Amino acid sequence: MDPSDAAIAELIQRAQAVRRRAYAPYSNYPVGAALLGRSGQIYEGANVENAAYPTTMCAERNAVFRAVSDGERAFEAIAVVTENGGAPCGACRQVLSEFGSEVLVIVADSTGKIHLKTHLHKLIPHAFGPQDLVLS
Ligand code: THU
Repeated sequence: MDPSDAAIAELIQRAQAVRRRAYAPYSNYPVGAALLGRSGQIYEGANVENAAYPTTMCAERNAVFRAVSDGERAFEAIAVVTENGGAPCGACRQVLSEFGSEVLVIVADSTGKIHLKTHLHKLIPHAFGPQDLVLS
């Protein structure tokens, strides 16, 4: 079930807050993400850039990796805040989809205005997933 409007508002606030801690001196495009686990716990992530550009990590994946490292693997929703409402990149969509395609994705801009509210499977249809691997 999708989170309530109040829960979504809290997620956006948390994403706005962590966005202020992004390390984005090269792009000057800070991103904040707040991921709601099924337990009710919220995991925050910000983008962390590097002078060796490709080693940069996105906010969404930092939030997922933090959650999984804390033992949570089932998610209800993720709020992503960017300056202008830019949507999650393909790599982040793929990483999120590993843990379920029903997660609600909310994208807001720095004022908190929602630009996108949809389920992950709409953002990454026919995703490659664990079911595609033939494991013996
Ligand atoms: N970025 C994210 O954090 N999430 C995305 O989904 C798209 C891009 C970051 C990476 C880089 O630090 C900056 O935004 C510009 O690409």
